Amino acid sequence: MCLTGLGIALFPGIVPAADGDPVAGKGKTAMCAGCHGIPGYKTAFPVTYSVPKLGGQHAAYMVKALQAYKNGDRSHPSMRAIAAGLSDQDMADVAAYYAATSTHSASK
Ligand code: HEC
Repeated sequence: MCLTGLGIALFPGIVPAADGDPVAGKGKTAMCAGCHGIPGYKTAFPVTYSVPKLGGQHAAYMVKALQAYKNGDRSHPSMRAIAAGLSDQDMADVAAYYAATSTHSASK
């Protein structure tokens, strides 16, 4: 099974560095859920701002986004701090997990 294959087909040129393992990824999302797991997808600290939902997004896109935070192409301070602590394997794993997660049960 290759969850990233679909993403590569849809986003040519975006090639994840490693194959993601959704099971391993689930265990790495505990710190993400504090912001990304909130119904309505908003966080209240330090200010109220919208947080993108991750469930159902393409793994390749999420890996690309995390790499962009890590290398500074994306400048959001919270996500830069988070991404700085993730290895390429961590990014692939959490992306695979979120890509396999449906958010249809969310209240909104
Ligand atoms: C402190 C709150 C917070 C935490 C914790 C957090 N995020 Fe985020 N995340 C955000 C916010 C806010 C954004 C939107 C930033 C922006 O506008 O660029 C975001 C954006 C993202 C994006 C880009 C989504 C898109 O649609 O472009 C990804 C992927 C992501 N986060 C993954 C993660 C992962 C994986 C973790 C855990 C390892 C995590 N985040 C932890 C707040 C958080």
